[in-house]
Amino acid sequence: MRKDVKGRSTPARNRSLMELAAECRSEKAVLHKYIPHYEHHFDPIRFLEMNILEIGIGGYKFPKAGGDSLRMWRDYFPNARIYGIDIYDKSAHDGERIKTFRGSQDDPRFLGRVCDEIGEIDIVIDDGSHVSEHVITSFKVLFPRLRSGGVYVVEDLQYAYWRQFEGVEYGGDARGGNRETSMTFFKSLVDGLNHQNFVEAGYEPTYFDKNVVAMHFYHNQVFIYKGTNDEPSFHIDRIKDRLLRSADKARRS
Ligand SMILES: C[S@@+](CC[C@H](N)C(=O)[O-])C[C@H]1O[C@@H](n2cnc3c(N)ncnc32)[C@H](O)[C@@H]1O
Repeated sequence: MRKDVKGRSTPARNRSLMELAAECRSEKAVLHKYIPHYEHHFDPIRFLEMNILEIGIGGYKFPKAGGDSLRMWRDYFPNARIYGIDIYDKSAHDGERIKTFRGSQDDPRFLGRVCDEIGEIDIVIDDGSHVSEHVITSFKVLFPRLRSGGVYVVEDLQYAYWRQFEGVEYGGDARGGNRETSMTFFKSLVDGLNHQNFVEAGYEPTYFDKNVVAMHFYHNQVFIYKGTNDEPSFHIDRIKDRLLRSADKARRS
């Protein structure tokens, strides 16, 4: 336990996320500037009982390396259970309120088994491979397993713009390219927030149209909130037929 200037101990629950991140030299603070965004979104829910799942434990093939963010989340959220997924065995980090699973984030069956063991999840943080296809697969499997009111965070979206970096294929693409990347996928969900206004006859809202209620994009990071997106737009029921007719006329002219 850290001591203050008068030599008194400061329990983790009284320290800010920035202090905890600095203490463990978290790459979320050292390499990136994610911590202020996390504090903004997580402070109001800090003391709730929750299940938190982070993809990517850190330390890669070295079993005892990494785990900084798992411990940081454990100290920041005193009533939460923290779960981590990594492609390598990271069980050396299992302990008080922390449990790790070994497997790949692009394996839907593995992710399903993890969710079955955890139960409903309140927060997912994707800081794993950063390969666009993996990020999208994990989101498609895990977002439906998130509790209503939960939040899904994706870090390091810079890889969405790079096909390859240091010999690793990330599946990104230059802006305006034809590939589906994590960013083009998440940007496509933004329109779904307004699906009630789509003027396409017979449009069937997707799962994400109906269950994404807010998206906050930051530099290289996005927070996606789950809830029920069934709010009707002002007068939409009354004017939808007129909108459909004029959209149809415009298409035919
Ligand atoms: C950037 S590090 C995570 C850092 C950690 N979240 C932190 O903030 O301290 C990325 C981790 O993702 C893991 N990883 C890479 N590919 C993965 C995959 N397909 N599925 C799960 N984990 C993967 C790596 O082994 C590595 O430990």
